[in-house]
Amino acid sequence: MPARTGSLPDRIAMYNANALKIGVFGANCSSGRSATKVPERWSASWPDCLALARLAEARGIDFILPIGRWKGYGGETDFHGATLETVTWAAGLLACTERITVFGTVHAPLFNPLIAAKMFVTADHIGEGRFGLNIVAGWNEGEFEMFGVKQREHDARYDFAQDWVDAVKRAWSEPGTFEVDGEFLKLKGVRAFPKPYGETRPIIMNAGSSGAGQAFALRNCDAFFTTTGAARISLAGAAARVEEVKGKARALGRDIEVFTVGQVICRPTQAEADDYYQHALIDNADWGAVEGMLALRNITPQTVSPEEFAARRRYFAANAIGGYPFVGTPDKVADELADLGRAGLRGIAVSFVNYLRELPYFCDEVLPRLARFGLREPQ
Ligand SMILES: Cc1cc2nc3c(=O)[nH]c(=O)nc-3n(C[C@H](O)[C@H](O)[C@H](O)COP(=O)(O)O)c2cc1C
Repeated sequence: MPARTGSLPDRIAMYNANALKIGVFGANCSSGRSATKVPERWSASWPDCLALARLAEARGIDFILPIGRWKGYGGETDFHGATLETVTWAAGLLACTERITVFGTVHAPLFNPLIAAKMFVTADHIGEGRFGLNIVAGWNEGEFEMFGVKQREHDARYDFAQDWVDAVKRAWSEPGTFEVDGEFLKLKGVRAFPKPYGETRPIIMNAGSSGAGQAFALRNCDAFFTTTGAARISLAGAAARVEEVKGKARALGRDIEVFTVGQVICRPTQAEADDYYQHALIDNADWGAVEGMLALRNITPQTVSPEEFAARRRYFAANAIGGYPFVGTPDKVADELADLGRAGLRGIAVSFVNYLRELPYFCDEVLPRLARFGLREPQ
């Protein structure tokens, strides 16, 4: 392991030479990313999260990405009904690990930027430069109502997020007292010390899918997460999409890395993987929760045709609420992941039905194959 200097390139590289970074996604939320009723579904309890972080670090996983979620989606399991707050969660995990990068996910409109900036600095010092920040502009109306905060019109959320991230970055870097005179934020006589670890700053990511969201990522972030699109289309199509994002960033004089998300069900045979996928994600789907998520996107039997509603319901359950399902043998899963690397994606954040049970097999079988493809360092 190279010495940790806390330089920005080292942080972006997550302190290792793996060309294709692998992270775990959504482990702070009950049921992770699978709206399933199977009894082994993820608890998201602190002991399980801590054991997962230690295991992930020991087995060479590069990063941990939580989901900022405040309210469950309902259904029999109340999917995401129990969640650990991500920045305090990251601080705890960073204190108990030495190498892995841990992100905190914040909704910009819900956090005062100076309090948030200091929370991030605190986590970053605990982790000696391993804290990462995922900025969410907000979309989930029910959550915002719960806080008594009114959401702005879609693109204005990103205008506000711009003011917010500018204030956070200034709190991280200004050597003395400063004023913020933004469109939305007016802050006077600001002092913010200490600065982040090692005279640099945490890596910043965003996953906006709209034009405004992507433009925000290009202007401000080191990493841009796309949803399933890039993973599902052809290798050439994915490569073109990555190049398009990177090209637009270069035009702004910036470098950005492109990541995606997925769900892994990896078993010794294809039949075993397919059977478990069918069992956990289809036969035992928590349809009430799936319908709750669709309703938030205004997809209900009242707003779309019965055929479309049935198709969207099935799509949401089968795709782990918006992540490509990598289902198969270690050879198949490694091949599909390698295609992402070959397309120029810098990494992927994956989820499992039960992270602790399933991660060891993935690390034992899939990571060495990726190393043989030249996409990761041998462990
Ligand atoms: C990898 C990834 C992580 C995300 N994390 C969160 C999250 O933690 N909380 C949340 O409310 N939304 C999260 N989102 C939603 C996005 O931030 C964004 O709001 C959504 O993709 C819609 O894009 P738009 O805001 O550009 O319309 C995530 C999306 C992706 C793909």
